[in-house]
Amino acid sequence: MFSRFKKPEAGPAKPSLVPVGAAQAAPKAPAQTVVKAPSTPVAPKAPVPKTPAEAAAADKDRKRKERLQELKVELHKRLLENLNLAALEKASETQLKAEIAAISAEALDEMAVALSAVDRATLHQELYDEVMGLGPLEPLLKDETISDILVNGPHRIFVERGGKLQLSDVTFKDERHLLRIIDKIVSAVGRRVDESNPYCDARLADGSRFNCMVPPVAVDGSLVSIRKFKKDKLAIRDLVNFGAFTEEMALYLEAAVSTRLNIIVSGGTGSGKTTTLNALSSFIDNTERVLTIEDTAELQLQQIHVGRMESRPPNVEGKGAVTQRDCLRNALRMRPDRIIVGETRGEEVIDMLQAMNTGHDGSMTTIHANNPRDGVSRLENMVAMAGIEMPLKAVRSQIASAVNLIVQASRLQDGSRRMTSITEITGMEGEVISMQEVFRYERLGLAPDGKIIGRFNATGVRSHYSERFKQWGFNLPPSIYEPIH
Ligand SMILES: Nc1ncnc2c1ncn2[C@@H]1O[C@H](COP(=O)(O)OP(=O)(O)OP(=O)(O)O)[C@@H](O)[C@H]1O
Ligand SMILES: [Mg+2]
Repeated sequence: MFSRFKKPEAGPAKPSLVPVGAAQAAPKAPAQTVVKAPSTPVAPKAPVPKTPAEAAAADKDRKRKERLQELKVELHKRLLENLNLAALEKASETQLKAEIAAISAEALDEMAVALSAVDRATLHQELYDEVMGLGPLEPLLKDETISDILVNGPHRIFVERGGKLQLSDVTFKDERHLLRIIDKIVSAVGRRVDESNPYCDARLADGSRFNCMVPPVAVDGSLVSIRKFKKDKLAIRDLVNFGAFTEEMALYLEAAVSTRLNIIVSGGTGSGKTTTLNALSSFIDNTERVLTIEDTAELQLQQIHVGRMESRPPNVEGKGAVTQRDCLRNALRMRPDRIIVGETRGEEVIDMLQAMNTGHDGSMTTIHANNPRDGVSRLENMVAMAGIEMPLKAVRSQIASAVNLIVQASRLQDGSRRMTSITEITGMEGEVISMQEVFRYERLGLAPDGKIIGRFNATGVRSHYSERFKQWGFNLPPSIYEPIH
């Protein structure tokens, strides 16, 4: 077989079965890992068979999959032996797929294996994913209905769809296979994971956020979490349509962002904090200079004048770290109108509060907390942990004058994400930060299908910032503050 992608010196391939993990090092991940192929939804988990005939069919299906897996391992090994990896970089997807089909047809002939057209197509796609992409993770990355991918060791991969976690039927061959894919991801960003550096954060080529932890710290096999990057971030309109908050709340939030209140989005893991922050940012005026600081760049602001910064962990020798705090301090010298910090989780809280207090009105961030009051305590704790020796009252008054609004994002037990509270910080009463809730989500019950029944309601409190809104030209109808009974 003649091929410009085939190694010129390639000898006859040996038909031995070798685990994928034992194959030679995989080629460097391409710049674009996600290929433009139609999304391949993951087949739902096979139901438990009821009759002997169904059991036999399930068994046959399982054997077929095992056989395909074995063939894939063998063919992958042959591909790595035969393909000219240097030429691959320049090959188009079509050329490479044709090449894979040719090498695999030759190998299958040699092994006297006959496959159906469907199995052949599946095998070729999987081989392509192994060589150019992230192996078994590829179909999950391409499936747009999936928002999170969570790998618990090689044989259990969970995905989140529509707010619900479910076990997928995708697996890695073994831990070595999983480790090889992890290595491909982290080496593409110049990092390494091993026993002495067992965990790593990275961003995939398509923008998805990636975290991994490998054994022995991960006890039952490597752990991987991927938050898929959504090209079209949910906008205010989408969030209103999904029932995340109401039109009235959106009107209020527009006034709050436009009049440059300092806003904190509080919420638990995966509750929609970043999504909310991103949507809120759409209310920022195009004339303003906005600087964003994140550990993993996820925000997608629509404005024209945006400077994005991403912190950097230390390299293998433990040097070269650039923290969020470093970015923030530097940002203050870059004449920003507003600063947006993706998530405040440590010592950068000091600089964030200071920025909010000193002329960078309209700054925003998220914090990890379960309700607005808890959010304030988190801020206090972060200040204390940053080693600032200040009396509690002084810390609180700093917070009270820096933060105007806390927006609470929650993921409810039925998987839905809602803005469960909009709470204003109104000042200090003695030693305590005073707050007033303006909107809240009220739970009314549980439907038979497990969905939560509830409604958004105003609390009847008029906004502390009403005057400010008016002065800036936002005349909100007083009815938005009236509760329904
Ligand atoms: N109101 C919503 N309706 C439906 N899906 C949503 C909603 N809000 C967020 N999502 C989806 O939920 C997932 C998690 O959202 P997001 O990344 O904003 O959460 P987060 O609180 O920032 O998470 P983390 O704590 O991991 O940073 C995303 O895939 C996002 O698209
Ligand atoms: Mg987030």
